[in-house]
Amino acid sequence: PHLSEILNLHDFEAIAKLVMVEKAWAYYSSAADDEITNRENHMAYHRIWFRPKILVDVEKVDFSTTILGQKSSMPFYITATALGKLGHPDGELNLTRAAGKSGVIQMIPTLSSCSFDELVDGAAPGQPQFYQLYVNKDRNITKKLVQRAEQRGIKGLFITVDAPQLGRREKDMRQKFEDDGADVQKGNRVERNQGAARAISSFIDPSLNWKDIEWFKSITKMPLVLKGVQRAEDAIKAYDAGVAGVVLSNHGGRQMDFARSGIEILCEVVKAFREQRNICFPHPGFELYVDGGVRRATDVLKAIALGATAVGIGRPFLYAYSSYGQEGIDKAMVILRDEFEMNMRLLGATSLKEIGPELVDAGSIHQH
Ligand code: FNR
Repeated sequence: PHLSEILNLHDFEAIAKLVMVEKAWAYYSSAADDEITNRENHMAYHRIWFRPKILVDVEKVDFSTTILGQKSSMPFYITATALGKLGHPDGELNLTRAAGKSGVIQMIPTLSSCSFDELVDGAAPGQPQFYQLYVNKDRNITKKLVQRAEQRGIKGLFITVDAPQLGRREKDMRQKFEDDGADVQKGNRVERNQGAARAISSFIDPSLNWKDIEWFKSITKMPLVLKGVQRAEDAIKAYDAGVAGVVLSNHGGRQMDFARSGIEILCEVVKAFREQRNICFPHPGFELYVDGGVRRATDVLKAIALGATAVGIGRPFLYAYSSYGQEGIDKAMVILRDEFEMNMRLLGATSLKEIGPELVDAGSIHQH
């Protein structure tokens, strides 16, 4: 179908399933075990309802924001997803260019197919970028990656903390991962015949723990964010450890099956901070993000209402560029922009600051 027939982010997934080569589709779409968490990620948003305000002058609405102090035209960022060239020869560069064009921030993955320098060089002047870190068993390698990122102007370091071992993604494991050199940067190729994920991940250090946070603070001045926090206790621990934020996430359902959705964790985290630290969100100096299953601007607005600063979106952009190249992502951005504008008008909010818990009914999300 022509791009003009694409009406929402779900459509990209349906097209991608038809047009992508099987190995790439298996890697991008797969999730852990029975994929229950993956399904729940989007379904959890169905349990939250809006309480729109009427008779507000909504002629002008503004949905721009800042994430870790960096301007973003919309309240989401493109989250890190590995192996960008499986879906399209330009790989993650598609995301870099589309991010620059639409004024949103891309998080560059450790396991990008394009090299880190290519993705930084591919950005427009002044375009902010974040970096996602998988921590290597060899801390010298990690230290070099982190300091290289800082030198090259990366604005935030997202340390993935939900992957001491990669989850079991059976759809992906059924595919033989042929090392054709195009998919992954040199030095990261290890095992074959176990799917793409396992082939590239054996360097990740399962001994990573809370004590390492101090070490990260000693080697970089970039704001640190823990990606993959799943309970209030750990979010508070992260706050006390002095990091700049946490991503409430289950890794797109790709790690532990039956982990809860990010939006559900958000409710628990916000309540715990209110009760135990007397803190309300958004809170300067410590930001909450959510990812997993975000497919509509309404999903994003729900997360904002409940206290998130922004959300991460992953698969929809992969499906968009795998099917249509960069134009696909550009189209996804236009769709989201239109959805934000309309839904803020319908909600009766002219800026994101006006979107708080009073605009949603999250009563059927279990609160601890
Ligand atoms: C991911 N994700 C991920 N996260 C991370 O920290 N490092 C990584 O290398 C990857 N790689 C990766 C590959 C693919 C194909 C997917 C789909 C996801 C997880 C990602 O950052 C994010 O948590 C989820 O993708 C969010 O869910 P949605 O938006 O894809 O539903």
